[in-house]
Amino acid sequence: MTTPLVVGNWKMNMLASEACNLAQSLADLPVEGVDVVIAPPFTSLYAVSQIIKNTRLGLAGQNFHSELKGAYTGEVSLEMLKDVGCKYALIGHSERRQLFGESDAEVNKKVHLAIEMGFNAVICIGETQEQREAGETLKVIETQLCRGLAGLSGESIAHLAVAYEPVWAIGTGLNAAPEQAVEVHKFIRKILFETQGFSVKIGARILYGGSVTPDNCKELLSEEEIDGALVGGASLNFESFYAIIKSALEP
Ligand code: PGA
Repeated sequence: MTTPLVVGNWKMNMLASEACNLAQSLADLPVEGVDVVIAPPFTSLYAVSQIIKNTRLGLAGQNFHSELKGAYTGEVSLEMLKDVGCKYALIGHSERRQLFGESDAEVNKKVHLAIEMGFNAVICIGETQEQREAGETLKVIETQLCRGLAGLSGESIAHLAVAYEPVWAIGTGLNAAPEQAVEVHKFIRKILFETQGFSVKIGARILYGGSVTPDNCKELLSEEEIDGALVGGASLNFESFYAIIKSALEP
């Protein structure tokens, strides 16, 4: 059975002191049976890594540059993320794609780099409201997935998670219905195993993200197709994030 994965994406929220407080509460949790990962802002990564270093909690970078080092003012490299204890990296979040113009080609470069450097890559994909209304959801998913994962070897799948995050559900309070998520998750699995040539039925956990809350997490996470959640807003508060973690444990 796949171990569920719950990732808290803190985005551009929380000062270092707040991040440390939340990390400390999470570090005290018994989290056997579920992989819990937090993605604080860069400025808090080191401090948080010191708090969680002897726990089962994982640390993720929200983003990184696709070059390893150099004159890229304002950017952060994968090696820097590794240095502060990150084992996971989010790649191609829709906010990166929409607000910062991240392309599928860049996402692909980052996925390769992350896996080569021993990270667990969490690639985010999802359709906009207009694309869903135009009946293009599966086409968009296929394109983002195939371009994002182009050239990856079959073994890479063990170091990969795919987060299905419909853009219309992110931060809107309007989550996908479990049936909508399940349809896309099944399709993602099919693409991974057929089109991409990944033959092993292990790894590549498929997460749902987009307005996951304590109120809807049970119905989403109890679906067999949904291997975990990528949580934004509800991961900023201990009680709500813990409720989601618990429902991943006992769906
Ligand atoms: P949300 O964000 O849970 O606040 O909708 C999810 C995400 O962007 O990963």
